[in-house]
Amino acid sequence: MTRQKWSSRTIFILAAVGSAVGLGNVWRFPYLAGKYGGGAFLVPYAIALIAVGIPLLMLEFAVGQKMQQGAIASYKKLHPAFSALGIFAVFSAFIIVSYYAVVMAWSLLYLLASFRLGWSEDASAFFYGEVLQISENINTIGGINWPVFIALLLVWIAIYFCVWKGTKSVGNVVAYTVPLPVILMAILLIRGITLPGFLNGWQFYLIPNWQQLINPEVWTAAFSQIFFTLSLAFGTMIAYGSYKNSDDDIVADTWTTALLNSGISLFSGFVVFAVLGYLATIKDTPVPELAASGPGLAFIIFPEALSQMPLAPIFSLLFFIMLLTLGIDSAFSLVEAINAGILDLRSDWDLAKVSLFVCSFGFIAGIIYTTKAGLYFLDIADRFVLNYNGLLTGIFQAILVGWIYGAEKMRRYINEVSDRPVGKWWNIAIKYLIPIVLTALLATQLTRDLTSPYGQYPAWALSLGWACVIVPLTICAALLLKNWQKLRRRSPQTF
Ligand code: PFF
Repeated sequence: MTRQKWSSRTIFILAAVGSAVGLGNVWRFPYLAGKYGGGAFLVPYAIALIAVGIPLLMLEFAVGQKMQQGAIASYKKLHPAFSALGIFAVFSAFIIVSYYAVVMAWSLLYLLASFRLGWSEDASAFFYGEVLQISENINTIGGINWPVFIALLLVWIAIYFCVWKGTKSVGNVVAYTVPLPVILMAILLIRGITLPGFLNGWQFYLIPNWQQLINPEVWTAAFSQIFFTLSLAFGTMIAYGSYKNSDDDIVADTWTTALLNSGISLFSGFVVFAVLGYLATIKDTPVPELAASGPGLAFIIFPEALSQMPLAPIFSLLFFIMLLTLGIDSAFSLVEAINAGILDLRSDWDLAKVSLFVCSFGFIAGIIYTTKAGLYFLDIADRFVLNYNGLLTGIFQAILVGWIYGAEKMRRYINEVSDRPVGKWWNIAIKYLIPIVLTALLATQLTRDLTSPYGQYPAWALSLGWACVIVPLTICAALLLKNWQKLRRRSPQTF
């Protein structure tokens, strides 16, 4: 069977940028910047982008494009033992998309509530009480929250129709869903800078609080944000790379994707902080207090600000259309990673049926987040999968390409197909910098989690988080052991 292909290079770039630019840019990035010292957060963010993000993105595009397969089969071709790493990555993608779609479901409910500005009385009560119907704590699961459940079903139906024809349907969708949110963002920016107080918000965003840089948490947050924002380590970019022609440019596509993504993050920071500055002014509250609201930024603080401005329903509608169109390309890129993983092993299976199967399972797995304790579960899954599974995959992926396959050999391939070559620094990043930096982060994180357990959660709840890491890890280790003898006899294929 011939492999599906992107219809053009522009469509590939749109799909890759669409995957990268998502809720992470508008929801996660500004709240991290707010929490970790405003402009100071940009320092670890930029370092993480250059030292780890760009080299790994280039690696993933190159692996997919060269091997012409998704993560599992590509890793297997690089070294048979590493198909287990592909399974780990794809399994993690599944966990992420199962909760990512739930955040989109909340956005959908907000979109519907925009017409009546449902949150105008009390934005916090609306989010926790009406939308999440949140229970007191994670011990009280409290049954299904039906509006979120139905919204989640609708989100999954939309995701299914984006991926059911593979690159063809994805190509048709990204042509609209990638530019549209950027246009909406620009409209919201213009709205923001015509409101009083926006400069206060920008001041907070741009003036660094250097003190924060000695806090190790800021660094782990910046690195995991780079992983999340560039859709690294979960097989997405490998799958997308695998639908390119094997002689397409890699260096230019990597820089274009990474810079557009970070540009949009910075841009969305300007939008979010302009509006926060406005809210701070009318509420007479300091900006840092509003900015430190964490995940509530997109669903409490921002909607509250929207409801205070003239033509509130229109701007609210635009904001939530923006969130949904931003989110959908990222969500279906995770499904694409899973689809590619399955179809590369079973190439005679039907794409539409595999998509239906993956989307149905994704929906079912997401039901836990539609309970009244859903937010707590989501917080735990997000924290553990991103920080542990992402970092672990990043480390092993760099070792696989850097040491086992050979960084220089991969760099030669990248340079053969690219107009502008990538220098030897890439080898150093892949072989030394990435494994060392990511291992250090992993160790810091592990020490912190073992000495002071995350959040205020009971042990049983945290063990679910650990299970998201340990169960796939154990399955992969068992697979590796099972095939060990076979692997020892077989030398890695060379290309
Ligand atoms: N990059 C997406 C965002 O910033 O929202 C999220 C994401 C998509 C993470 C795809 C990982 C992934 F494989």
